[in-house]
Amino acid sequence: MRFLSFLLLLLLTLQAAAKPRLEPRQVVEFNKGWKFYLGDETQAKDAGFNDANWRPLTLPHDWSIEGKFDEKNPAKPEGGGLPTGIGWYRKSFTLPAVKDRKVYIEFDGVYQNSEVWLNGQLLGKRPNGYISFRYDLTPHLRPAGQPNVLAVRVDNSAQPNSRWYTGSGIYRNVRLVMTNKVAVDHWGTFVTTPQVSQDAATIDVKTTIRNTAGTRRPVRVETVVLDAKGSPVAQQVSDKVKLTDSTTLIAQTISLKQPQLWSVKQPYLYRVQTRILDGKKAVDEYETPLGIRYINFDVQKGLSLNGEPMRILGVNQHHDLGALGAAFNVRAAERQLQMLRDMGCNAIRMSHNPPAPELLDLCDRMGFLVMDEAFDQWQKKKNGKDYHLDFPKWHRRDLEDMVRRDRNHPSVFMWSIGNEIREQFDSTGTRLTKELTATVKRLDTTRPVTSALTEQEPDKNYMSQAGVLDVLSFNYKHEGYPELPKRFPGQIFLATETAAAFETRGHYDLPSDSVRIWPKDGKTKLTNGNPDFTASSYDNARPYWGSTHEPAWRAIKQNKHMTGTFIWSGFDYLGEPLPYPWPARSSYFGIIDLAGFPKDAYYLYQSEWTDKPVLHLLPHWNWRPGQTVDVWAYYSQADEVELLLNGKSLGIRKKQPDDLHVMWRVPYAPGTLQAISRKGGKTVLTRTIKTAGQAAKIELVADRGSIQADGKDLSFVTVRVLDAQGNLVPDAANQVKFNLGGPGLIAGVDNGYQASLEPFKADTRKAYNGMCLAIVQSTEQTGTITLQATAEGLAPASITIKSGSTSAASLSKSAEATTAASTSSK
Ligand code: GAL
Repeated sequence: MRFLSFLLLLLLTLQAAAKPRLEPRQVVEFNKGWKFYLGDETQAKDAGFNDANWRPLTLPHDWSIEGKFDEKNPAKPEGGGLPTGIGWYRKSFTLPAVKDRKVYIEFDGVYQNSEVWLNGQLLGKRPNGYISFRYDLTPHLRPAGQPNVLAVRVDNSAQPNSRWYTGSGIYRNVRLVMTNKVAVDHWGTFVTTPQVSQDAATIDVKTTIRNTAGTRRPVRVETVVLDAKGSPVAQQVSDKVKLTDSTTLIAQTISLKQPQLWSVKQPYLYRVQTRILDGKKAVDEYETPLGIRYINFDVQKGLSLNGEPMRILGVNQHHDLGALGAAFNVRAAERQLQMLRDMGCNAIRMSHNPPAPELLDLCDRMGFLVMDEAFDQWQKKKNGKDYHLDFPKWHRRDLEDMVRRDRNHPSVFMWSIGNEIREQFDSTGTRLTKELTATVKRLDTTRPVTSALTEQEPDKNYMSQAGVLDVLSFNYKHEGYPELPKRFPGQIFLATETAAAFETRGHYDLPSDSVRIWPKDGKTKLTNGNPDFTASSYDNARPYWGSTHEPAWRAIKQNKHMTGTFIWSGFDYLGEPLPYPWPARSSYFGIIDLAGFPKDAYYLYQSEWTDKPVLHLLPHWNWRPGQTVDVWAYYSQADEVELLLNGKSLGIRKKQPDDLHVMWRVPYAPGTLQAISRKGGKTVLTRTIKTAGQAAKIELVADRGSIQADGKDLSFVTVRVLDAQGNLVPDAANQVKFNLGGPGLIAGVDNGYQASLEPFKADTRKAYNGMCLAIVQSTEQTGTITLQATAEGLAPASITIKSGSTSAASLSKSAEATTAASTSSK
C-alpha cells in the first residue's frame, strides 16, 4: 500500500513536471521582435501586409533621438530640433491555447496619437503621449499556434505640440497580460494606510474583481501582506464573495503590529498579495507595492513624514534620458536618481506629465517623494498643436488613469493637476480646478492636490479662488514668498519651480558677481549672449523670470512657511534651449548636464542638503597671465576655507550667516591652486586644481565595471582628456572615437554641450570642456566588453566591462564613481 501511494505520488510529480502549471496571471514582456517603419503606410494595419523590409527592433524605442538635428525640423529647437513625423510598428506573435483566458496588451506610453490594430481590427486610439493604457486582445485573437499581427501607428506629425523634447514612438515598455476570466481588474487594487503609528498600522485594501465569465460562483479573496523579505506578516480573507457580471469591489482591513515605516531615509517596502480562489483553485494572483507612512501638511508646522518635520528638497525632471532620448531605460533613470540622492535631493516633480511606471518603482525603492503631474495645459494652448486639442475629450480619462495607475506608490505624495495653466487668469480656471480636483478626489482622498501657479495676487488667481487646492504651489517670484501667508491666509505653500539659472558645465564668465539677465524682459531679444552659446557656471546667468540658484535657495531657507522647493531643473533636458536660438537645442537649467556631469551648482546643494563634508573649488586654472579670476568654494561641515596659490596663502574665508559660498579675487598665475577646509583648526578636506598643460591622453571611467547581460543594462563611461601629468584639460575639444568589442553596443554618446549638433547615436564625440560620455549597453550574451577610445594626438585608453548573468555592481558604489567625475581635477 505504501509502495503504491509512493508510485502514485511519483506519477503525479512527473506529470506536473511535464505539464507546467498555468500561472493564473502571466505577465510577459512584449518588447522584442517588433518591426518599424518611419513614414505612413495605411495598409500596414492589415495582418497580411508585407513588412519584410521593415527594420527589426526592440522596444522601448524613440525614433526622434536617432535623427539629425535640423533647425527646420517642425518640432523647432524648443522641441529639441530633432525629426518627428509618423511611424509604424508591427509585431507578429503566436499564443498557446488561450481558451477561457483574457489576453491584454499594456502600453506604458506611446508618443503620441497611437492607434492599435490586432489582425486588422482597430482596438483604439490614444492621443496622450504620456499615459498608460491597455487593450483587450481576446476577441480578435487567432486560434492557438496561428500568427497574430499587432500594428501600431504613431502620429507625432502635428507640430509643435510641446515646449520641450517629447521623443516619438513606443518609448516605454509593452507587456502582455493573460488572466482568467475572473481576475483583479486593470489597476484594480487600492491600498491605503488610514492609521499609522510606530506600534500599529491599519491597512485598507480595496480590490476590484472583473468577471467576464458570466459566472455567479462565489470566490474567496485572500490578501496577504509580505514584508521586504517576502515573509507573510498579516492577512485577511473574504469568503463567499458574490460576483456581479462586471466588476465587484471588495474592501478588506488588515492590522499590522510594529510596522516598519517607509521614509525617504529608509524606504521600507511591503507587498500586498491578492489571491482570488474559486474553490481550491487560485484564479488570480496579483501584487501591489506598499509603503507604510503618514504625511502631514500643517499650516503652522509645515510638512512632516511619519511625524518628523521635513522640507521638500526637490528637483523638476522631464522624461528624456539625454542621449537615449525618451526611450525608457531603468538603469539610466536609476543613475539620475542616484546622483540626485547624493546631492541631498529627496523629491522629484514629474514635470509636467506622468512618468514611466518603473521610475515610480525606483522612487519607492530609493526613497524619493514624487509629485505626479497630469498636464501642462488644459483647454487653452501653449503651442498650436498641443494637448489643448485633446483636453475636452480626454482629460477626465487621462487624469483618472494617472491616479489609478499611480496611487499605490508610497513615493507619490501629491497630485498636480497642471503646470502654469493659462486658465489661471479667468473664471474657467475656477470651474476646471474644481472639476479636476474632484476627479482626483473621487479616486484618492489620501493625497493633497495642487497645481503649479504663477499668480500671487489672490484676486487675479482664478485657480486658487476655486478654494479646492490643498496646497498652493508657486513657480518663481520668490520675492513674494514673505507675503503669501497674508495674501492666502490659512494655506499651505510649496515652491514648484525655483531658480531656472543658466549654466554650461565648465564655462565661466567673469566677473562672477555680475549677473547676466538673459533676456532682460519679455519684449527684448537676447543680443548680448555668448557667441558660442554658453552660459556661465558661476551661477551668474538667469532669465528675467527666474533667479540664480543662491537667492532662490536662500528664499526657501528663510521662508519657513514654504514646505519646500523643486529646483528647475535637476538635469538638463532636450529642447527649451533658453536663452539661445539655434544651434542651441537643449536646456541650460540643469544642476547636472545632459551627459550626467554635475555642474558646479551641484555642490552648492550638496553642501546645503546633506550632512557630508563638501569642499568644491571652481573654476579651472587655465587663464591668461595677469587676468583677475574669481575663485569660489562651496563648503560645509567646516568653519573656514583657506586658499593657496603655488603654496602662498590668499587668505581665509568664512561664510557669513546668509552666504552660500566664499570667494577670492585672484590675479592669475599658472600653477597650483589649493583649498583647505578646516573645523576647529583641523583640516576637513583639501582640493587642488592645477594649470593643465597640453592634452596628452584619454582617461576612461566606467560607472559600473560589471553589468547584466540582459540587453538593457548600461555602463556610463566618462571620457576625460588629460595632460601628461593627469590634469583635466579644461578646454579640450578632441574628437574622440570609440571602438567597442565583445557583447555590447554603444547606446549613445554625449558631451553635455547644449549647442552640439553631433548625433547621439554614433561611435564618436567631440570632448567638450575636456569631457564626453559613451553609454555602453549589454546584449543578452555574457562576456567581456572592451571599449577603446582614441583621438588624434592623444594616448588612447581602453576599459573592460563584464557582462554577466548577475550584476556585481553595488548601487551606491556606482553613484560615487559617477559623481566623482567633476569638472575640475581635484
Ligand atoms: C516654467 C515652466 C517650465 C519651464 C520653466 C523654465 O515657466 O513651467 O516648464 O519652461 O519655466 O524656466
